[in-house]
Parts: sequence; C-alpha cells; structure tokens
Amino acid sequence: MSRLFEPASLGDLRLPNRLVMAPMTRNRAAADGVPQPIMATYYAQRASAGLIIAEASTPNAVGQTYPNITAIHDRAHVAGWRQVTDAVRAAGGRMFLQLQHGGRVGHPDNSGLAPVAPSPVPLPDTIFTPSGHQPAVVPREMTIDEIHATVADFAAAARNAVDAGFAGVEVHGANGYLIHQFLAGGTNHRTDAYGGSVAGRIRFAVEVVKAVADAVGPERVGLRIAPGLTVNGIEEGDTGDIYRALLDALADVGLAYLHVVFADPGQPLFHDLRRRWQGTLIANPMLPWPGPLPADGGRREGERLLAAGADLISLGRAFLANPDLVERLRTGAPLNPVRDTGLMYVGGESGYTDYPTLDAVARAETLAPAAA
Ligand SMILES: Cc1cc2nc3c(=O)[nH]c(=O)nc-3n(C[C@H](O)[C@H](O)[C@H](O)COP(=O)(O)O)c2cc1C
Repeated sequence: MSRLFEPASLGDLRLPNRLVMAPMTRNRAAADGVPQPIMATYYAQRASAGLIIAEASTPNAVGQTYPNITAIHDRAHVAGWRQVTDAVRAAGGRMFLQLQHGGRVGHPDNSGLAPVAPSPVPLPDTIFTPSGHQPAVVPREMTIDEIHATVADFAAAARNAVDAGFAGVEVHGANGYLIHQFLAGGTNHRTDAYGGSVAGRIRFAVEVVKAVADAVGPERVGLRIAPGLTVNGIEEGDTGDIYRALLDALADVGLAYLHVVFADPGQPLFHDLRRRWQGTLIANPMLPWPGPLPADGGRREGERLLAAGADLISLGRAFLANPDLVERLRTGAPLNPVRDTGLMYVGGESGYTDYPTLDAVARAETLAPAAA
C-alpha cells in the first residue's frame, strides 16, 4: 500500500492518512471576514483529509488582502469559524487555520486602510478590488511599534483560532505576503534590526512564530515557507542562506510542522532543509501551475516526496475538485478536474460545494435509467 494512506501523528493529533488539504483562499466570507455557513459544508465535505489547513485568514484589519477573505481578529470571526470546525469535527476531520497578513498585497478599497510593509516598495502588479483590478498602492513602511503590535496580533489571532475550535494554526511565511516580504531583500530595505543582513530579515518571522507558539503551544503551530518562489513580485536574493538561518533559529521551538510550498525533490535545497528540520515536514509538490493538474492530482509526485523524506503531502487543487480525494486516490478512481478556475475566488456554491463524490455519481447513475 502507498505510504500516503498510512496513519501519522502530528502534535497530539492522530491523522488517518498523510494527505493534507493545502490552504486555499476561496473568498466566500462576508465582507467583514466572517465565515459563512456554506464554508462549513465545503470543509465538512473534505473531512477525510488527514488534515485540513483552512484558508488564509487575516490576524488584523490592515492585513486583509482581497475582498471577502476570512479573518480571525474579533468575536464574530471566532463564532463564524466555530460553525465550520464543529461541522468538520462532526464529519470526523481535523483542522488547522492559516494566519496571513498581506502586507503590501492589499488595497484601501479592500481593507479600508493603507497597506503596510517592511519598506515602501509596491507590488509590481495590479490587485483585485470590488471594482476590479487596480494598480497597487505604495505601502507605508512599518514602524518598530507597528511591527511589535503585528507580532502580538498574530498571537491573539492564534488564540482566537483555538477558541474557534481549530487544532492549531499555520503561520503563512510563503507566497509573497508580509512575512515573506520581510525575508526577501527585494521588499525589505530596512536598516534597523528587522532588515539588512539575513539575521535581520528573518527576525520578524522568528518573532511571529515564537509569539504564536507561546500563545497556543508549539505543538499547535506550523510554518509555511516557499523558498525561491517569486510570486507576488518576491526577490529573495539569498534563498539558501535565508531558509537555513530561519530553520536553525526555529529548531528548538518544537513546532508541529514545517510546510514547504512547491517542494521539488530534484533540488538540493529541499534535501538541505529536510536534513536541518528534525520535526514533521509537509511537502506541497511542484505540479504544473496554473495547470492543468496531472490525472492523478499529484499522487505520484507526493510519493516521490515521501521517498525523499517528507512526512505528509499537501494537495490543493485536487482537494478543491474532489471532496472524497483520499478515497479516489486509494482506489485509483478518476478525479474530477477543476471545472472553471474563474470560480475559485468568487462567491456561491458553483465550483465550491457542488463537486460530486464517487457515491453521488453512482447514485445519479442508478437513478438515471428510471428517470429516462
Ligand atoms: C484557489 C486557490 C487558493 C489558494 N489560497 C492559498 C492560501 O490561502 N494560502 C496559501 O498558502 N496558499 C494558497 N494557495 C496555494 C495552495 O495552497 C497550493 O500551494 C497550490 O495550489 C499548489 O498545490 P496544488 O498543485 O496541489 O494545487 C491557493 C491555491 C489555489 C488554487
């Protein structure tokens, strides 16, 4: 049997398999970031994942990236998420929440506030707003006090997530958002303790992770990183040095896991990070992006990564389109393809809760002759 279907431990959790649903922003929250009942349906449908990492949620108002993304900084957000975690638990699942501050990936029309970042370097791109794509604005450079307050906001958001019933949180240090902006030389031009050398540029990430671990316990905290990824205009410069230093600085914290985006077992850096990281490593395979996905949804690449030392494998789009992905991969059943990428980031059931399970397809086929 493939190791993908073997059970695993993660902190205090027992995972029935090694398949993790990767965090995916789906923009189905209310305008104020409160999760909606349709989200409970969507996540509960996917409860057979070994672990679900729920979508990027902002720890404070200024960290909001796009319209209708989820938040986790006030009681209404906690109450909304509680409905989601209750539904997932009732369906037998386990769930972490990703914490994401957008930094310069934000717009006053989305958050009501001017975006902040390590340095006033704008996103070299347009950004989606309720009135369509607009040029990015120049972010305001964060003061030292704002940096400290943001670290505290991450910690408070983690406490909120646990209050909302999540088993833990994932700190989003990947994909060009605030923490990644601090790590990368292209977006961090600071000359104070939070910039300059690699030791300075990793400081914010280390402080956030340690504050979150202090708040809810390190066994409830994961960190997502994307070494070398240039999404959202990121230019790291010294990729290997950044991530080696970051992992060394976090080695003794006792985190639940490290989650590596677009992990490639053909790259020496992957093996270097694996050697340095004593804890659980979740690898998100390098699959064609933007697509189309391979017919096996990433299973073969996942197995290569397990053989190269990963402990768990996260898949995004295959889970998006297949609520019963684990069963389909276990049995070799065909996968639903992603129907329409235009439905990924818009409201409503279409392309969200209406992907059929194998059981639903079988029921429809049984009923079809009678109806004909
Ligand atoms: C619709 C969509 C939304 C995403 N949102 C997030 C997010 O909120 N946080 C994050 O870290 N990555 C996000 N990602 C990236 C995924 O977590 C994952 O890394 C990516 O889809 C590659 O995995 P895959 O090839 O299995 O889809 C998103 C991807 C998709 C398709």
